[in-house]
Amino acid sequence: MTSPPPERGFASDNQSGVHPEILAAIAAVNTGHQPAYGDDDTTARLRTVFAGHFGEQAAVYPVFNGTGANVVALQAMSDRWSSVICPEGAHINVDECGAAERVAGLKLVAVPAPGGKLTPEAIRRHATGFGDPHHAQPRVVSISQSTETGTVYTPGEIAAIAETAHGLGMLVHMDGARLANAAAALDLPLRALTTDAGVDVLSFGGTKNGLMLGEAIVVLNPDAVRGVEYLRKAGMQLASKMRFVSAQLVALLEGDLWLRNARNANAMARLLADAVRDLPGVEVQQEVQANAVFAVLPPGVADRLRKRFAFYTWDAEAGSVRWVCSFDTTEQDVAAFAAALAEELPR
Ligand SMILES: Cc1ncc(COP(=O)(O)O)c(C=O)c1O
Repeated sequence: MTSPPPERGFASDNQSGVHPEILAAIAAVNTGHQPAYGDDDTTARLRTVFAGHFGEQAAVYPVFNGTGANVVALQAMSDRWSSVICPEGAHINVDECGAAERVAGLKLVAVPAPGGKLTPEAIRRHATGFGDPHHAQPRVVSISQSTETGTVYTPGEIAAIAETAHGLGMLVHMDGARLANAAAALDLPLRALTTDAGVDVLSFGGTKNGLMLGEAIVVLNPDAVRGVEYLRKAGMQLASKMRFVSAQLVALLEGDLWLRNARNANAMARLLADAVRDLPGVEVQQEVQANAVFAVLPPGVADRLRKRFAFYTWDAEAGSVRWVCSFDTTEQDVAAFAAALAEELPR
């Protein structure tokens, strides 16, 4: 009989529980009655908190999940005949069940992106057919920060993308499901990677950084969108008891919880990579930049190790796996995992 996996694995940062400060924040607003649909005091406070991070012009729209944030944001930035340029491996392209196409009616132009990162050259190469009625009209460039492959864009790289997109009459959307990890990795404020780098609309992630549930669409450039409030409702992302989503985001961003959580996740990923990189037959694929480690293991090892710890295969053909660390990953978790990996390696 195989023993059950231990409590904390490395499958994803959304497999972790809820940070105690977030739970406390939910409990703290669980008093009396408050207006629904965002007219409550906590959501008003959320607007001030987000303005503090992203600038006075920033408008914040809490939603339930990341797919919803992306779909509503992209829809608000586009017309029915628009296309969105994104990396091949973008979450919106491979992990959202075609929601951008099905729900928003957009065409995704998914382009090769080494390391998960778009470049100005790639955008220029694929932003074609302007004014041609046979061609979906390039409208948005969508990048993820940090990327699905664990890499991080520098502010300069984002600014160059924004300059290129804006020069072509396009807009920039950032899928920031792990923006906090990127900012922590670069030791920069959130606005340095968003508002100040020319991003127009952000999907801000909370769930992967300690929330129970909750993300936010953050409109950084008011001229980049139309009808977010209507699209959010029509897209089934408007919470009636919004104060409970807003309270979590306030607790994350009012102090430094976002940074503490992200720093821990990133530090544990670095620790994990260091703990396994010299094991025989283990190839850590790239320098750890945020909270994910990618590695190639000898045949059969991943399947044996997975009986003890949860994690995903990344590329079955290449034999690579992905290990993600969370706000609550500990040094003991990492040591136990590295020891188990060493035990499972062929002798
Ligand atoms: C890059 C990225 N964007 C967005 C999401 C949000 O997805 P969900 O709709 O599950 O909240 C995820 C979750 O895995 C993600 O990794």
